[in-house]
Amino acid sequence: MTSNANLPDLSNLWMPFTANRQFKEHPRLLTKAKGMYYTAADGHPVLDGTAGLWCVNAGHGRQEIIDAIARQTAELDYAPSFQLGHTDSFRAASAVARLMPEGMDRIFFTNSGSESVDTSLKIALAYHRARGEGQRTRLIGRERGYHGVGFGGISVGGISPNRKTFSGALLPNVDHLPHTHDLSKNKHTRGQPAWGEHFADQLESIIALHDASTIAAVIVEPLAGSTGVLIPPKGYLEKLRAITEKHGILLIFDEVITGFGRLGANTASEFFGVKPDLITMAKGISNAAVPAGAVAVRREIHDTIVGAAASGIEFFHGYTYSAHPLATAAILATLGIYEKDQLFKRAAGLSQKFEDAAHNLENARHVIDVRNLGLVAGIELQPREGAPGARAAEVFAKCFDAGVMVRYTGDIIAVSPPLIIEEQQIAEIFETIDKVLKTVA
Ligand SMILES: Cc1ncc(COP(=O)(O)O)c(C=O)c1O
Repeated sequence: MTSNANLPDLSNLWMPFTANRQFKEHPRLLTKAKGMYYTAADGHPVLDGTAGLWCVNAGHGRQEIIDAIARQTAELDYAPSFQLGHTDSFRAASAVARLMPEGMDRIFFTNSGSESVDTSLKIALAYHRARGEGQRTRLIGRERGYHGVGFGGISVGGISPNRKTFSGALLPNVDHLPHTHDLSKNKHTRGQPAWGEHFADQLESIIALHDASTIAAVIVEPLAGSTGVLIPPKGYLEKLRAITEKHGILLIFDEVITGFGRLGANTASEFFGVKPDLITMAKGISNAAVPAGAVAVRREIHDTIVGAAASGIEFFHGYTYSAHPLATAAILATLGIYEKDQLFKRAAGLSQKFEDAAHNLENARHVIDVRNLGLVAGIELQPREGAPGARAAEVFAKCFDAGVMVRYTGDIIAVSPPLIIEEQQIAEIFETIDKVLKTVA
């Protein structure tokens, strides 16, 4: 917790996804970051067990990125992205395309994951319309899915508190697949659960209900992160792919968390060997040094939309800051580091140690499940009677005070460190959680 000395006035800032009242009574402020560590305002180091918000994959304060941003802002601080461009926007698109599955090489830049999601949904609608199937407007998401906070994203998303206040204003024509989490079958699974492929069969039921001719796209996170780390059962994503393909429905993988090495591959699509039609990205694309996001689009989808349009603008969508020069500078420098340091391979090489360290917590106090894949782990706690989320909130706060940053959603602790983490730091994260759990009621 931050001491009150030298604190600014905290009243003006309305903080996002934060318990503002509690936070302002007990603020937790960060002042610096380098490598694997943050520094809290009271000076104590905090080992970053979450890569910030699943985004600082190359670790903090990378000199190559700092230099690239500084150079860029001096040289070309901003260039409009409508009917004009700058050379690095094209270079950055090519660099991103090289990491995408074969043929998914048309790249639309955004500034965030939420914008990437809404962009991908619009591309799906535009594609069907361009093909003369404009009646395909239905979008299918999944329970417990997190796709950011735009109206498109919360409509296809499946996290109830994010939706209920806005429920009268969500997109029409949306349906949801069931989520795949069942602890009675999959407790303490290492890697992908063997049980649960059949959850994908529900898509056939949804299609039977609405008719395929009305459905534009299915969007899922290949590994659901923000809802509390839900790992796809074996065969599940393959089945979603087969069913969508059979019915001419586009499949969108929301890879805002899983893109750029989190699972030890360029993308989760590559890791699972399942190729969707669109991939949304953000976070690790720029190591979070400048807000940035993108959608990778199968070439035929791009060509259909662009080819079907009358001369002039083909797709009425874009952001003032699409391909912002600072973002493209950060993207190019970040992807350069990933390549030079072979960080995705490094993550793959560490994933067994990470899994073992996480599963050491199987018998820890309050723990009802441990699950993991790549450099992601979820530790689910027994909720406190009548106070869901309170136990994990306390674990989060006490870990922070003890010098380790974790995240929590409900009563699930998530760990997703930068890919530069050392083995001893992996041990430190899970040992600290274990120690803290012993002190929590
Ligand atoms: C899968 C997924 N999609 C979208 C988003 C939204 O990204 P942003 O917060 O950059 O808008 C997130 C953020 O965590 C995410 O995990």
